[in-house]
Amino acid sequence: MKAVSEREVDAAAVDRIIDKHRDSPGNLLGIMEEVQELNRHNFLPRRTLEYIAESLGLPFSKVYSVATFYAFFNLKPQGEHSIIVCRGTACHTKGSKALLEHLEGSLGIKGAFDEGESYFTTPDNKFTVRTVACFGQCALAPVVVVDDKIHVHMNESKLARIVKELSRGGKKK
Ligand code: FES
Repeated sequence: MKAVSEREVDAAAVDRIIDKHRDSPGNLLGIMEEVQELNRHNFLPRRTLEYIAESLGLPFSKVYSVATFYAFFNLKPQGEHSIIVCRGTACHTKGSKALLEHLEGSLGIKGAFDEGESYFTTPDNKFTVRTVACFGQCALAPVVVVDDKIHVHMNESKLARIVKELSRGGKKK
């Protein structure tokens, strides 16, 4: 099958998903979820959102507002691995800013969060780094979640080891 670039839409695949949901109420969410899963970088490019809107006869603004309202929809490419750094007060006090800066430096995305961005993906799509307000594990600060696994009392050397292992193709833990 021909690879679909981020600028293109795999129209046939999107059409199949739309046809499957056509008669179900509230189908927009289901359609968008399945179309995102189809994307190898797990996101909904603008052109894809436009295609969904055109196909369903909906205004683009409606589809776009759904994509931005729900946190599980991504408007930018997602990395193969996800690293989430807690930036809540307890974690900040225990050094989460330094952990984030360490990640920015080691992954070559220095200053990525300076403009108030909440996540950033490395150019090679290997890692997506996010921040959150609190994981609810404040007593165990600083907390970092890597590929859905919670790491408590995180420090720079432990984080460096994890990133190194994943960069080498280590498995998700
Ligand atoms: S502030 Fe980080 S877990 Fe609550």
